[in-house]
Amino acid sequence: MSEVKLDDLVSLTKRRGFIFPGSSVYGGLSGTWDYGPLGVKLKDNFINLWKYFFVDSREDIYMVDAAIIMNKKVWQASGHVDTFNDPLVECKKCHSRFRADKIDLSHCLVCGEKNSFTEPKNFNLMFSTSIGPIGDGVGEVTIDRAELEKILANNKDSKISLKTDNENLVYLRPETAQGIFVNFKNVVDSFYPNIPFGIAQHGKAFRNEISPRDFIFRSREFEQLEIEYFINPEQWQEKFEMWINLIHQWFNLIGLPAGMITDKEIDGADRAHYSKRTVDFEFDFPIGKEELMGLAYRTDFDLRNIEMFSKKSMEYKPKDGSASFVPHVIEPSFGVERFILAILSSAYKQDEINGEKRVYLDLPFKLSPIKAIFGPLVRNKSEIVDLSKKIFKEIKSEITDILWDDSNNIGKRYRRADEIGTPFCITVDFQSLEDNMVTVRDRNTTIQTRVALDKLSDYLKKQF
Ligand code: GAP
Repeated sequence: MSEVKLDDLVSLTKRRGFIFPGSSVYGGLSGTWDYGPLGVKLKDNFINLWKYFFVDSREDIYMVDAAIIMNKKVWQASGHVDTFNDPLVECKKCHSRFRADKIDLSHCLVCGEKNSFTEPKNFNLMFSTSIGPIGDGVGEVTIDRAELEKILANNKDSKISLKTDNENLVYLRPETAQGIFVNFKNVVDSFYPNIPFGIAQHGKAFRNEISPRDFIFRSREFEQLEIEYFINPEQWQEKFEMWINLIHQWFNLIGLPAGMITDKEIDGADRAHYSKRTVDFEFDFPIGKEELMGLAYRTDFDLRNIEMFSKKSMEYKPKDGSASFVPHVIEPSFGVERFILAILSSAYKQDEINGEKRVYLDLPFKLSPIKAIFGPLVRNKSEIVDLSKKIFKEIKSEITDILWDDSNNIGKRYRRADEIGTPFCITVDFQSLEDNMVTVRDRNTTIQTRVALDKLSDYLKKQF
């Protein structure tokens, strides 16, 4: 179990400019989060490393970037319109709504009323909106369909009609995966990769979660990094194992301790409608052991459904001249927010330096938002300040994520740098004027090393 409490992470990330509650100036918007300067850096570093590891360093995976607003047939064909539901219950007394499988149904969490819930009903998690100039342009009114049917049954003169196929209806994508499937044929026809090959996508996904909770763990707007790895079905077991392996290499690369990860085989009844085998990778979050990401064998479910709905063939013709076939798919699906939470919770450390408590983030160098804090020991000696500015300019032109800090209290400077996970603090002091060396202090060990100015850039670059 993680050493840190969720509240400590929420507080640190807000105080130091990583993550803020969404729309906070207006009292917030449940299930949404905004990234501040350091959060953007951390997230970008994570995503760029992911792209390097899973796409750019390989020869079989290519990226697409599909539109977020897609034809609604995409979500009919994928099964999301019919089955992307969570069970919803409502307290008959105070009308608060909850996800039935996540709460104790013996009493209402809001008003305390005992055994007061309605029967669970399916609540579709997709956000819907309209495309094109319809209505007055200020949005839609959402009404419970069953309620509206009741009202209309009692009001025969009403001009309101219930449409089942509204041509302006669109959904915000609940997964990035479908943007890949609908472009499968485009990529094959324009690029003709050898099978097996993968198509990856990074981007936003939206789910109208009944109960968003636990900081960024369950949000209504989040980011996914997904790969659809297209294979010959005969190879699915071998390729599934290959992906389990690669995913563990990834955990290792980003510094998630192996002891905090559990591979969980998902039983048939609990698997998504499209999956023949699913492994969830669980992480020991501060809220307990929960799903970090998933790996699913989606068979040819999606491409077959696209064939059915679009009447277009999704067959792949192998270059060796063998018979064409509709590829099957292995899908690793990474949730960016859950990874950021896992990275922050495993990096959060507390210790004592000279009898003083400190908090530091033991982030891997590649992920740290700021690689080094740089500044003169004192602000009132112009030779030291001038030399510092000169070196800072040179280093910053090579390693951009370096921050100038010349606050006078070096102890506080170190604490602030530690708390945002900065691996190094570089100080120019009186001695630097004599020996052309600077002091480089290591975040984790707090050991200080003298490094020659002409070796400084290599010293830092060595960490990349
Ligand atoms: N394409 C398959 C798919 O979307 P999923 O298990 O529903 O599968 C994949 O989602 C990953 O997306 C999850 O393992 C998790 O990391 C992330 N995720 C899903 N819902 C989320 C939410 N409400 N907030 C944050 N991350 C979420």
